[in-house]
Amino acid sequence: MLLRDAQAEPVAIRREDYRAPAYWIDTVDLTFDLDPAKTRVLNRMRLRRNPDVAPEPLRLDGDELNLARVLVDGQGASFRMEADQLVIDNLPDAFELELFTTCAPAKNTKLMGLFVSEDTFFTQCEAEGFRRITYFLDRPDVMASYTVTIRAAKAAYPVLLSNGNLVEQGELPEGRHFAKWVDPFRKPSYLFALVAGKLVAREQRIRARNGREHLLQVYVRAGDLDKTEHAMASLVNSVAWDEARFGLPLDLDRFMIVATSDFNMGAMENKGLNIFNTKYVLANQATATDADYSNIESVVGHEYFHNWSGDRVTCRDWFQLSLKEGLTVFRDQEFSQDLCAEASARAVKRIEDVRVLRTAQFPEDAGPMAHPVRPDSYIEISNFYTVTIYEKGAEVVRMMQTLVGREGFARGITLYFERHDGHAVTCDDFAQAIADANPDSELARLLPQFKRWYGQAGTPRLAAHGVYDAVQRTYTLSFVQSCPPTPGQPFKEPFVIPVNLGLLGPDGRELPLQLADDEAPGAGTRTLVLTRAGEQFTFVNVDAEPVPSILRGFSAPVILEYDYSDAQLLALLAHDTDPFNRWEAAQRLALRAAIQAIHAPVVGTSDQPLDQAYLDAMRRVLRDPGLDAAFKELVLTLPSETYIAEQLEVVDPQRVHLVREAMRAQLAAGLFADWEQAYEQHRETGAYSPDPRSAGRRALAGLALSYLCLAARATGDAVWPGKTLQRFKDAGNMTDRFNALQALVSSGHALAAQALARFHAIFKNEALVIDKWFSLQAGAPDRGGDILPLVKQLMKHPDFSLKNPNRARSVIFSYCNANPGALHRPDAAGYVFWSERVIELDAINPQVAARLARALDRWSKLAEPYRSAAREAIMRVAAKPELSKDTHEVVTRALA
Ligand code: PHE
Ligand code: ZN
Repeated sequence: MLLRDAQAEPVAIRREDYRAPAYWIDTVDLTFDLDPAKTRVLNRMRLRRNPDVAPEPLRLDGDELNLARVLVDGQGASFRMEADQLVIDNLPDAFELELFTTCAPAKNTKLMGLFVSEDTFFTQCEAEGFRRITYFLDRPDVMASYTVTIRAAKAAYPVLLSNGNLVEQGELPEGRHFAKWVDPFRKPSYLFALVAGKLVAREQRIRARNGREHLLQVYVRAGDLDKTEHAMASLVNSVAWDEARFGLPLDLDRFMIVATSDFNMGAMENKGLNIFNTKYVLANQATATDADYSNIESVVGHEYFHNWSGDRVTCRDWFQLSLKEGLTVFRDQEFSQDLCAEASARAVKRIEDVRVLRTAQFPEDAGPMAHPVRPDSYIEISNFYTVTIYEKGAEVVRMMQTLVGREGFARGITLYFERHDGHAVTCDDFAQAIADANPDSELARLLPQFKRWYGQAGTPRLAAHGVYDAVQRTYTLSFVQSCPPTPGQPFKEPFVIPVNLGLLGPDGRELPLQLADDEAPGAGTRTLVLTRAGEQFTFVNVDAEPVPSILRGFSAPVILEYDYSDAQLLALLAHDTDPFNRWEAAQRLALRAAIQAIHAPVVGTSDQPLDQAYLDAMRRVLRDPGLDAAFKELVLTLPSETYIAEQLEVVDPQRVHLVREAMRAQLAAGLFADWEQAYEQHRETGAYSPDPRSAGRRALAGLALSYLCLAARATGDAVWPGKTLQRFKDAGNMTDRFNALQALVSSGHALAAQALARFHAIFKNEALVIDKWFSLQAGAPDRGGDILPLVKQLMKHPDFSLKNPNRARSVIFSYCNANPGALHRPDAAGYVFWSERVIELDAINPQVAARLARALDRWSKLAEPYRSAAREAIMRVAAKPELSKDTHEVVTRALA
């Protein structure tokens, strides 16, 4: 590896080094003269020394700015530059600072700060983008009142938006105009936003419970207005839900969402002016799938809920990121569940959320980037917008709710906002508020220990063992918890683990649960709260040996190990009253079969990893009239290659791929008649509506079609591929059309080519649909190494661009991050491709590059020759001079 210049070696920021700022900024008055090549920013601020810290010079953050003028109280002031910081000494206790800078939005390919997307100006300031607009104390604990004047050419930029209320607008000479916005709330700089361009808005007026009127707007480009109905409906539902569930009202007269097609992330919660990736706004039935509709609902909800959990109460420092993100993911998950009319749909949503956690967060927590929900250090904060901060953070909040109950949790939320409204606080403050509102709860009793969930990284393992004593009629469950070492944390203390438990009797019925010192038996699920490395619970009056249903609803983010027999898992699958554990039983059966086949001495596609008992159970599920289609689709979907790989010590990715493909082939052939029946039963869903029930029917019909095409491939049958092509042509909505296309592509059928060509022709002007077209091909199951050449060809397609993050993700991430069977090639060409793309992207957009860099996080688990080849590829990236901090941090951690 090349040695990097020691001076350039990025330094880690540590949580323990937090100090309050030396100055506060009370007001900020910004004037923008917008021009894509050179935008001028006049920044007038009132600052005052923070009396609580020792006097220090003022150090303002900046990044890629041209500084033209610095005035202190109207006078030219002396200043110096230290790296990227503007430093001013000898300041009075309170003063006005005027800064004049310019920046170049059209050249801003990082998409942080002020940038241009399709001739429209946008900003992105979280986490540290505001310093690319003006010099500032760019940290979340500095909260100021903003006044913003935007000036721009009126014809090119008719709409001028910023946070808060529009207080003035008018004409200027030379065809320019202006708008002045005042935000009534103080905010940290990361919540600042500005938008200027040719946009149109869908508007809706709503009246809140307290009678207050609000204007809701969704701004898009002119051709996209017909795709904003669902986003608006989701916003209206979000406002109503936060008021009903947590008593948190909308606090602004006007709430705006704006969509851009160039965005690094999903969306951003800027106060009163949320900026969204088009992917999470635009939908109509012709262009968006059911999954798109449901993602839009949760992302619109997520950003709206940030208005309280993020904006009204924000983070003291970026180590507290999960304070707002974990809580807000929890809130959006609850929102989506509460919108479901039926309990079964709520369970489906929970299973989907857990699937994300286990396929993305568990590997992160076991790899080189593992970090606590509240990290201790980082080099580049953008790298810490992770599934750990978001999804595991949400599970930590969910466990608190489990420990204090739903009502107690709502009380805790109320206390949290009463205590901390308008302030920048910590994860400790949050947990304390929930506990203080519930002084008699287990959470209050165990709070210091519970907070280990914030401080310790790694996924705890929970080994459970049950012993039935027929003579005493007792059943004893013992638990042993442990947590593997993670970077910087060799040893872990025991966690507080809430375990929701039920016991099933031999007839499949739920048994009453009575611990030895309980007076009377309780029915149904009971929460056991584990606190020690090992402990035991003995249930009395148990008439027959039960099957334990442990961790119902996935009540804690742990890996549960229980030595279930196949018969016990089949019993849980057939009878458990907890839908999560029913699904989990099927997953365990499939996983077990996969692992056995992977370890078997010989392998070929002709292998038959699944036994008849499993296939029969799947047939029963498919045919069960009492189960929802959406649930069936989840049960019949095999664990992903990534999830299977996580269960293995040493991973041969090709073997995992072959075995899983063999399992798919078996499910296709073994249940052929059942798939035919399932398809016929669920193919019609009437007039399109994205509700969970009809979406579930479409999902099952789609899965059936893909298995039918797969079976046809093996037998050479032409009927189902033909029907699928017809379905693709006739479909009345994108979900059915895309599922048909996917069935042809993923079965590798010859008809796929014409369907793909037709799909492209129909949707050539719909960027988000073209993303799907790319992504489907780059993510298709590999057959003999055919995907990498295809990916290289797709990159030459005239519609491809590395600069647009959605498009780059649709090809490169779909291949590198989501298609292990195609990436991990014995000839290492996948890794070479990956390293070239990381380096290429890093020069354009470091945030996106650093995410791509994470694709080889788990290299050290790979079997040879993959392991050495992957390591070499990572080293090649790490050796590249002038790598961004973002990518540098990811690859050096991977090699550590
Ligand atoms: N805060 C945003 C969210 O979770 C995510 C985001 C982070 C967007 C950084 C842009 C940049 O809602
Ligand atoms: Zn968020």
